[in-house]
Amino acid sequence: MTGRPDKHDPTSVGEYTWAVHGGNEPDVGTGALRRPLVMANSYLLPEDPTGVDWSNPDRLLYTRTTGANQQALETKLAALEGGEAAMVVASGVGALHAVFFSLLRSGDHVIVSDVTYEAVWRLFAELLPQRYGISATFVDITDHAQVLAAIRPETRLIHTETIANPTTKVADIAALARLAHSAGLLLSVDNTFTPPPVFRPLAAGADLVVHSLTKFINGHGDAMGGAVIGDASLVGRVRSDALADLGAVISPFNAWLILRGSVTLPLRIRRHLATAQRVAEFLEADPRIAFVSYPGLISHPQHEVARRQFGTTGFGGVLAFALDGDSGLQDRFVSGLRLITSAVSLGHDESLIVHVGPAGRGGSEYYPEPFRRLGHLRFSVGLEDADDLLADLAAALDLATGTA
Ligand SMILES: Cc1ncc(COP(=O)(O)O)c(C=O)c1O
Repeated sequence: MTGRPDKHDPTSVGEYTWAVHGGNEPDVGTGALRRPLVMANSYLLPEDPTGVDWSNPDRLLYTRTTGANQQALETKLAALEGGEAAMVVASGVGALHAVFFSLLRSGDHVIVSDVTYEAVWRLFAELLPQRYGISATFVDITDHAQVLAAIRPETRLIHTETIANPTTKVADIAALARLAHSAGLLLSVDNTFTPPPVFRPLAAGADLVVHSLTKFINGHGDAMGGAVIGDASLVGRVRSDALADLGAVISPFNAWLILRGSVTLPLRIRRHLATAQRVAEFLEADPRIAFVSYPGLISHPQHEVARRQFGTTGFGGVLAFALDGDSGLQDRFVSGLRLITSAVSLGHDESLIVHVGPAGRGGSEYYPEPFRRLGHLRFSVGLEDADDLLADLAAALDLATGTA
């Protein structure tokens, strides 16, 4: 950073300043300091509309292709991830599907991490091969020889999550980008678990970043959204193929809520990560716990990669663990929690836990052994006092195991 900070120029300000000011403008009409919510689905055309460029993504015409609140959120997110452009849609899955739909065609092949969010697994295991003739190979994304060996003449894309949901496997994005580019492939990265300032995949060489905005970026559990971020030409391709013609538009209200929620992202994320580290260490030290999977633990198989990749910010806000016992024990533990809520989703202000049994979900045959044997509890560590969370976990452990 040099010279005078300019709140319109993300390169001239720090991450907290951009989080506050990015995408926000006082309203010209009223002077209101916050950008208003524009609940219109159409925008006024000029008197003579013959000169209108209908395909210009920046022209406010019709909300399925863009709207004022969507544009503001895109401006903020592009700079946040260090991309030239961003496109926001209705959900994280909408964003993932937009990328795959736009970049792949029948006959193409994709290399996919063998642990991803369940919907991605189903897209590549079932829907895209069966309906569109797009094939996929699931690989251990930490084994680069396996990734290389999976490349075929028709391979177009490598897709991974930075930290995988739910096993917390960590992908080395810089190494994967080098590998992808040396073979002429694109690398798309779902960075939902490690939003900036934790990690920026584009700076490490990825071509496209995807987020579920529903999670940490909004952070308040009250809106769904997704984003695709990258250079203008790639995002433009995704936008023109997937937004106008698939129609997964985000509502202006959700874009407005997410823009507001993201104001505190740098503050919140550091606290999520610090508390998650404490919780992971606390659980790992308890003999009643069979395993804890969290990249901040020395016992995690990719701890060193995670340290190199994420630096000092921390190792994510989500961990997976299981008590040493059957599904009934895991359920008793969850029902003994008083502060931590049993619900899906993650990255909210409140702590959320979900029990997934050993039969698991789509793709769980690729999970490590203790996940397959015991099932797992996916724990999204919230913003509550760490001591309160530890006390709640300890009390529920005592109750469930009869050691109170
Ligand atoms: C890593 C990851 N990507 C994508 C998604 C899907 O996001 P959404 O629920 O906003 O569609 C999720 C949901 O949990 C996720 O964990």
